[in-house]
Amino acid sequence: MIFNFSDFHFPDRPVRLYPDTPEHPWILEVGFGDGRFWPHFAASFPEAPNYLGVEISGTSLLKAERRLRAAGLGNAVLTRLPATPLIREVVPPGALDAIVVNFPDPWPKAGHEEHRLLRVPFFRLAASRLKPGGAVLLTTDHEEYFEFACREAEASGVMAVHLTKSPPPAALETKYARKWRDLGLDPRHARFVPTLPASALASEFPTTAARFPDSEDVPAVPHAILTLPADFAPTAFAKHTARGGVTRDNPDGWTVVLLDLYASLGKDGWVALAHVVEGELTQEVLVGITAREDGSHLVRLSRFGGPVVTPGVKAAVGVLTGWLEGQGARVTHRGY
Ligand SMILES: C[S@@+](CC[C@H](N)C(=O)[O-])C[C@H]1O[C@@H](n2cnc3c(N)ncnc32)[C@H](O)[C@@H]1O
Repeated sequence: MIFNFSDFHFPDRPVRLYPDTPEHPWILEVGFGDGRFWPHFAASFPEAPNYLGVEISGTSLLKAERRLRAAGLGNAVLTRLPATPLIREVVPPGALDAIVVNFPDPWPKAGHEEHRLLRVPFFRLAASRLKPGGAVLLTTDHEEYFEFACREAEASGVMAVHLTKSPPPAALETKYARKWRDLGLDPRHARFVPTLPASALASEFPTTAARFPDSEDVPAVPHAILTLPADFAPTAFAKHTARGGVTRDNPDGWTVVLLDLYASLGKDGWVALAHVVEGELTQEVLVGITAREDGSHLVRLSRFGGPVVTPGVKAAVGVLTGWLEGQGARVTHRGY
């Protein structure tokens, strides 16, 4: 089943994601590509574990979903997101049996190491989300990235590196495994096993409502009420950027870029398009400005696209409201 980010709870639970099999092991795969690993790996268990697959390519997502459906793997959730925010926001502490990474993008050019997934912050986050006895399983053909990942795991201070000769056979069935095999390259394999219990890292990676409210607990759609100046009729719009929201629980804070403003033909009002960045998580949201009967206007987050109401998304309503104040609007109510 394909999940959008807004379909998850923060954090989520196996009993909600896999209601028929909540007690099965829970395995997460990062960058599943066209989805060949999971049917092979699942078949090596007496009963298929619960699967959470995360991938940034939309084409791969659709290919993998078709493959898993054809294999009859019902207890599988696939999502198109970068791995880090998904693991951090959706997976509760100490919940996963394994995180599988097969043939990650190696970013081989000098100076591009910062784009690599398997660096110290990822290993610390992974250790906070794995069960006792869980592990990160890496298989790659890229010797230099392999050595790099092993060094980073050790430098994380929370992972022991176990080198094993043979990867799980399923990891040799992926598209990239076949590609490198055809070129005569041998993959390397490592298991990274946490040396601390997940609870020891809980404060470093909180999943608290303060940082990221559970979608069920969001009280109201962020909004404001204001009176626009009588002559408000924008004919031009310059991109507007604002930053803020840095707290201990949310060290990245948010960046909101108001990208454009569209006039409505159906209603007396406008719609603003905002780009919201919170660490690796980005969302594009619409915020409406619609006339009320008393002549004031309501500035409100649109539900279009199912945005997750993060601190940054709330801030987008505030940033637009602030921009309108700069155009002469008078705010009478703030609900964001
Ligand atoms: C080299 S491919 C390997 C695909 C597959 N594992 C295989 O072995 O055939 C790397 C995959 O990781 C995905 N990817 C890269 N960065 C990612 C991230 N931060 N989160 C999730 N997926 C990511 C890419 O879109 C790509 O499909």
